[in-house]
Amino acid sequence: MKEKLEDLEKRKAEARLGGGAKRIEAQHAKGKLTARERLDILFDKGTFEEIGMLVTHRSTNFGLDKQKFLGDGVVTGYGKVNGRLVYAFSQDFTVLGGSLAEAHAEKICKVMDLATKNGAPIIGLNDSGGARIQEGVVSLGGYADIFYRNTLSSGVIPQISAIMGPCAGGAVYSPALTDFILMVENSSYMFVTGPNVVKTVTNEEVTAEELGGADTHAIKSGVTHFACENELAALEHVKQLLSYMPSNCEEETPRLAYEPGNESRPALNDLIPDNPNQPYDIREVIAGVCDADSFLEVHKDYAENIVVGFARLAGRSIGIVANQPAVLAGVLDVNSSKKGARFVRFCDSFNIPLLVLEDVPGFLPGTDQEWNAIITNGAKLLYAFSEATVPRVTVITRKAYGGAYDVMNSKHIGADMNYAWPSAEIAVMGAKGAAEIIFRKEIAEADDPAEKLKEKEAEYAELFANPYNAAARGYVDEVIAPENTRSKLIKAFEMLENKVANLPRKKHGNIPL
Ligand code: HXC
Repeated sequence: MKEKLEDLEKRKAEARLGGGAKRIEAQHAKGKLTARERLDILFDKGTFEEIGMLVTHRSTNFGLDKQKFLGDGVVTGYGKVNGRLVYAFSQDFTVLGGSLAEAHAEKICKVMDLATKNGAPIIGLNDSGGARIQEGVVSLGGYADIFYRNTLSSGVIPQISAIMGPCAGGAVYSPALTDFILMVENSSYMFVTGPNVVKTVTNEEVTAEELGGADTHAIKSGVTHFACENELAALEHVKQLLSYMPSNCEEETPRLAYEPGNESRPALNDLIPDNPNQPYDIREVIAGVCDADSFLEVHKDYAENIVVGFARLAGRSIGIVANQPAVLAGVLDVNSSKKGARFVRFCDSFNIPLLVLEDVPGFLPGTDQEWNAIITNGAKLLYAFSEATVPRVTVITRKAYGGAYDVMNSKHIGADMNYAWPSAEIAVMGAKGAAEIIFRKEIAEADDPAEKLKEKEAEYAELFANPYNAAARGYVDEVIAPENTRSKLIKAFEMLENKVANLPRKKHGNIPL
């Protein structure tokens, strides 16, 4: 037995070396960690159990029979993250560039299946040259096997992708099918076709970083939810994200201990500027109502006119969707609607209650928006809220105008509790625009049209730019002092804790994609 044990140890040591010491050195020289070093950081110390360490490929094409590496370029397994079961795969760039083929894909599928059957999140750490060219179509088959599982597990278990190196070609579609993508700045990129093909086809000169680096996808495309300064920060973010979600769709997120105290936040009374057109930062409201330092913003640099993210209220995980008056006056447009809708659907899939903070002047007008289908995209947010069965609470801090009032989790589309601050303006449109339309003739015929407009504007504002018409009809359940918002929300979400809401029987809905 002794010899056999020594032989086993030798094989394991070889597997742990991946592509060998030289390639590990090259990986480090690029400022990158190895697949195993990343897993060591992600998982609680000593909890990671590897599966399939001795797997090899079966190909003999192009001399691959002489290039066999134990593990076949991906480390897979399970362990604990902050004490909770999590599955992961981590691609090893030191082995054939982390390229994916038959055996590599089978290993990933195996942990994906285990994660889904056992109801725990799966984390993918991506660092790969893509389909292993020598193995041909089995590589493509392997990718498709993964995509299929990503799709079937969507909404069953949380799936998170961290991009820590190249991720190109069809390989990008696995991360794209998962719930959250994190990218590491300056060392990761994602694109369907790289700079060389782009140059050939469109004659555009673009670097890999410009085309598909972390900042590009965090700011321009919205493909990534987080751009992280380095690998450590990315792995830390993964752990933090996990803390806000349950392990699967049948569970609730574990709560943090919470000691009730003085929940009054008087500073909120002074937040809304006297001038209704003056911006303020909605994050100040978030900070004022949520547990201290609990807000984890998602998609921070994309479509900044809406703010979404996770937070805690009395220790309980909630999802926040908030118009941001500090950017484009908080208007809803194509990108902010998509961003909001995707986040709402994640929260609803995983039993995370939703808090909406509303200050929205309406949808953004213009040819750009209309031609880019603000109709279809705005409908995504409307659909996502309407369909959500988790506890849903709205606080209107200031503007709630036009169709955007309906969309932003109004009572009419199934919100459970709707509050408004006394500064709320809930109306079909702003006073000036309304006065210009309904009093057009009177204004035109006046001796002083400007003065008349002002007068009519004031008349309209007096009548409609307040929360009381909505409150009179019960569209708003209560008009509250800003300082009391936190305590009202804690009570409301507690009251809604056992909410049961069923959708009509169907195969699945048809969200306007
Ligand atoms: C086989 C690969 C490989 C691949 C890299 N390697 N990618 N082997 N198949 N796809 C190998 C390299 O040959 C090299 O081996 C080692 O990995 C390290 O790669 P380097 O090129 O030295 O590293 P680097 O300079 O950092 O460049 C990384 C890279 C480059 C940009 C990713 O390797 C590259 O362009 N690879 C090819 C990418 C590609 O076209 N993939 C197919 C995409 S199509 P040696 O032994 O020489 O050191 C695709 C379709 C998926 O993925 C479809 C799914 C539906």
